[in-house]
Amino acid sequence: IDPSLDLFAEIKRLKKEKNAVILAHYYQDPDIQDIADYIGDSLGLSQEAAKTDADVIVFAGVHFMAETAKILSPQKKVLLPDLKAGCSLSDSCPPRLFAKFKEKYPDHMVITYVNCTAELKAMSDIVCTSANAVKIVESLPKDQKIIFGPDKNLGAYVAKKTGRDLVLWNGACMVHEIFSQQKILKIKNRHPEAMFIAHPECEESVLKMADFIGSTTGLLKYTINNPATEFIVATESGIIHQMEKASPDKTFIPAPPNNSCACNDCPHMKRNTLEKLYLCIKNDLPEVTVPMDIILKAQKPIERMLEISA
Ligand code: 13P
Ligand code: SF4
Repeated sequence: IDPSLDLFAEIKRLKKEKNAVILAHYYQDPDIQDIADYIGDSLGLSQEAAKTDADVIVFAGVHFMAETAKILSPQKKVLLPDLKAGCSLSDSCPPRLFAKFKEKYPDHMVITYVNCTAELKAMSDIVCTSANAVKIVESLPKDQKIIFGPDKNLGAYVAKKTGRDLVLWNGACMVHEIFSQQKILKIKNRHPEAMFIAHPECEESVLKMADFIGSTTGLLKYTINNPATEFIVATESGIIHQMEKASPDKTFIPAPPNNSCACNDCPHMKRNTLEKLYLCIKNDLPEVTVPMDIILKAQKPIERMLEISA
């Protein structure tokens, strides 16, 4: 790419020319967030993908999110700037192993967290996101037996909130598992007025200390509406860009990881760059496809989620 090229202007021009829309998750690089037509959490992004009238969806996020967009809008072209942008949580649940696990619980319904492959969604009764997991579980009768996967931390949080006994798959997100309870305690002591806010993919020991737990959109809204001026944020660092934009007078401190060499960046989310976004929209590549039989099976559980969340 010619270094003198104004990528922001070029992407805007190409977007118009191709009737494309750029949907970006909060964990994306700030430059990508700034050029996106819509920025949101996984739920907001699915709702947007279902209703857009663009011909092309450029998904600035990870593979399972682009797959979800394709399942909801199969007639549209869905592009992902880097096809290798995966997810450790999704990887922790191979569909073949999950199918065997499911066989052990024939009278259970299957709720899957959206952070999983299209194949796994096709094996589910309802999909959920971190924003609506509690609501989805509560929408089912109290005596309904439920398998919840792949995130054991979100699953444990939902089980606690709803008082239900969920059968959990043993998966986790590599980013939300690195927070250190001890280091968070230390930083809380140094900033006694700060609110500690956390994503429900964090471990229970971290969630126990939180003043507020929510999806990325939930966390962002909390920082806007809460009068506190300091927040310690236990989730991927990308969300801090929107928090700072919305509340320039407030201070946001990324929660410290357990190892000082680690950071709160998701290596999968951060595979997408402005340069790759430009090339992707210019060349209509790489495209995310899902086999039609999987699309048809996965549509129902996702649509069921969207109906319950409406
Ligand atoms: P939400 O978008 O539901 O906040 O989940 C965060 C996440 O881990 C996405 O990969
Ligand atoms: Fe997956 Fe975690 Fe990255 Fe989200 S932050 S995409 S759950 S690895």
